[in-house]
Amino acid sequence: MGEQDILKTELRWAAIAVAAVALIVAVIVISSVTRMLQPPSHIETIDPAGLHVSGEFIESNLGTTQNPDGSITVRVIATQFAFVPHCLAVPVQQAVTLRVTSPDVIHGFLVAGTNVNTMVVPGYISQIHTVFRNAGNYLMPCHEFCGLGHSEMWSIVHVLSRSEWHPDVNGRVSCETRR
Ligand code: CUA
Repeated sequence: MGEQDILKTELRWAAIAVAAVALIVAVIVISSVTRMLQPPSHIETIDPAGLHVSGEFIESNLGTTQNPDGSITVRVIATQFAFVPHCLAVPVQQAVTLRVTSPDVIHGFLVAGTNVNTMVVPGYISQIHTVFRNAGNYLMPCHEFCGLGHSEMWSIVHVLSRSEWHPDVNGRVSCETRR
């Protein structure tokens, strides 16, 4: 095998490596543009020890709120081994902001069949903007191993049609009050 043959082989492998990288970059770009699959870039901190005592994530403030300006905010706590609240009610075809945090360990937050997918890290608020395209029930499992009860940690998202969407006087909507 001469010097030229070795050079040819090396160039061929280099071309394969470059093609593999180009393919990976293309998949990232195409999925982020067409499927809106992007890593969360929101950085906001919160004291994980005081979640239940005061502030945005006290129990009475969890769940879905239609704000005075009409925007929708959903607040969720991911804790070993449950999401609070256990069921989320959101409107179809409307911008929804999800805000999630954890008082204990790292959890995963994913709504099957949508672009909602993030990690929930204690000390940080994970925020996701999304639009649920179709009404129906969606499974929301924890997808980050968080302890022995990890497999039991899941919720349901009810995506409600316009006729099912009835905020109360405070703008609150829950799975129980949806009719
Ligand atoms: Cu929470 Cu796995």
